[in-house]
Amino acid sequence: MDIEDIAKKMCTKGKGILAADESTGTIAKRFKSINVENLEQNRLSFRQTLFNSSGMKDYIGGVILFDETIKQKTTLGLTIPELISKNGAIPGIKVDKGAKLLAGSNEETITEGLDGLRERLKEYYSLGARFTKWRAVYKINDKNPSSQSIKSNAHALARYAALVQESKMVPIIEPEVLMDGSHDIEKCYKVTTSVLNECYNELATHKINLKGTILKPNMIIPGSECESASNSEEIAKKTLDCLKKNVPSEVPGIAFLSGGQSEIEASKNLNEINKINDTNFLITFSYGRGLQASALKEFGKNQDNIENIQKAFNHRAKMNGLSSKGKWSESLEKESAA
Ligand code: 13P
Repeated sequence: MDIEDIAKKMCTKGKGILAADESTGTIAKRFKSINVENLEQNRLSFRQTLFNSSGMKDYIGGVILFDETIKQKTTLGLTIPELISKNGAIPGIKVDKGAKLLAGSNEETITEGLDGLRERLKEYYSLGARFTKWRAVYKINDKNPSSQSIKSNAHALARYAALVQESKMVPIIEPEVLMDGSHDIEKCYKVTTSVLNECYNELATHKINLKGTILKPNMIIPGSECESASNSEEIAKKTLDCLKKNVPSEVPGIAFLSGGQSEIEASKNLNEINKINDTNFLITFSYGRGLQASALKEFGKNQDNIENIQKAFNHRAKMNGLSSKGKWSESLEKESAA
């Protein structure tokens, strides 16, 4: 498959992406919240249980893995990428090395990981990966994000994307404007506009084939400490408007991050966006917490109760699959959970 076909397959209507690429440090936080020890065996057990669930075939087009996971062998005899492929999804890999303090700025970050990336990509391809992820992070406050952060992160994203396409894989471009803070929805709209503009300028400079990319953005949403709440209709309208104005139409798929929204909010907002989607973009999910939070709770209750863990995951996968078609509803949410 060439990269344009891979990108379309990852976002096939009714399907989305499972972001299971938490670094060892991030999964440590998730496991701590359910009192599970952060051991390699436990990480494998949880992830293998998700990747082997029945919801994969109908609702998941791609799975983003972490370096450790793509190299693991399951207790079912298959490697992790083989298990994912067997269940109809494309294996992908997070290739950035995390957001580090940006020199010259006190509180902003630059995502690192370009050194040696060409060689790492070759290895990931040989292990079965056909797409990759790189996440840039922007925090909103009175002063930030600065143009220094917007420019340097866009430049890194474009250099990453060029190396990935050279390796015949699809780069997921993830510029995440964080929800943290007391800013309102308008501020999120403005900042996301600047961030997306700079990203697409740099991607053009680096001659990226946009048809072989996926954008993974934040929704346009008020800060988590904002005093005025927004309903799903407003979030959907502003999000779609921002994407229409700032994302080139050649981009085939847009797969949102959940970014700290609850599982239900993430499904509801995605559903509203798809209800009014009058573009050619395939609009879907690339959720971490939005797909895994309930399953993680079940894993915390009893790690060996595979049935309950998979039931929780299958439910969220199905709900988000419906949202990617604008067919989710509160009543289906309750019926199918029962
Ligand atoms: P969340 O959906 O939990 O935000 O995770 C998505 C992701 O991959 C962040 O990089």
